[in-house]
Amino acid sequence: MKILVVGDVVGRSGRETLKLFLFKNKMQYDFIIVNGENAANGFGLTPEIADEMLSYGCDVLTSGNHIWDKREIYDYLDNSSRVLKPLNYPVNTPGKGCTILEDKKKHKIAVISLQGRVFMSPIDCPFTRVKEKIDEIRKITKYIIIDFHGEATSEKIAMGWYLDGYISLLYGTHTHVQTADNKILPEGTGYISDVGMTGSDNGIIGMSVESVLPKFLSVLPQKFQLAEGNLRINAIEVEISEETGECTSIKRLNKSFTEVELS
Ligand SMILES: [Fe+2]
Ligand SMILES: [Fe+2]
Repeated sequence: MKILVVGDVVGRSGRETLKLFLFKNKMQYDFIIVNGENAANGFGLTPEIADEMLSYGCDVLTSGNHIWDKREIYDYLDNSSRVLKPLNYPVNTPGKGCTILEDKKKHKIAVISLQGRVFMSPIDCPFTRVKEKIDEIRKITKYIIIDFHGEATSEKIAMGWYLDGYISLLYGTHTHVQTADNKILPEGTGYISDVGMTGSDNGIIGMSVESVLPKFLSVLPQKFQLAEGNLRINAIEVEISEETGECTSIKRLNKSFTEVELS
């Protein structure tokens, strides 16, 4: 089966880039997973924007630390099987961290949204929480895909080795910078430290240079604004064996769009 995973979609320009890409290409994929934590003006997700992104052909929206930025998504998370919070937030937070859905060929695919703890909020241990969940899911399906939303590549690589052979694919999100370490681990799990971001490549991880650079220069709080122009989709294309559930191919996709293509 052929899976598309799209890295953090940032703001309206990110959504438009995603929409155009999927309009032209979605038929070639059996299942599409997109990280939506920055889709609403760079910070969080609203019910309307989640529905809009699902209507483009996304099967699941994963998330991360920014999923809590818009309070109107909280009830929606409780009621959705297609929009996920990270699994290892405290159990009393809204939403689900895992879902099992069918792909085009009726295979059951489990998707888990998970978050790291290095240089991030001290939530529950991702290693312990995910292992418990995988033991549960493996009774239902061998196709398991995890979005590990984290800052530190070391923590993501450690998770890759920890889960090698138990899941089909572990990919990182959150840094908004695509890494060049896509590989298949020895026991058959596909791995990349970060898929990257989708939106304007003309700023600092999706936000304008004018609004972010002063924070580094002065250390004073700044109101971040979305970057504009130079639109880019960062994604991975992954092949998973229908027989074994192992990853057989993981390729980076890094494509820019001109404004003309988008109009
Ligand atoms: Fe993000
Ligand atoms: Fe994030």
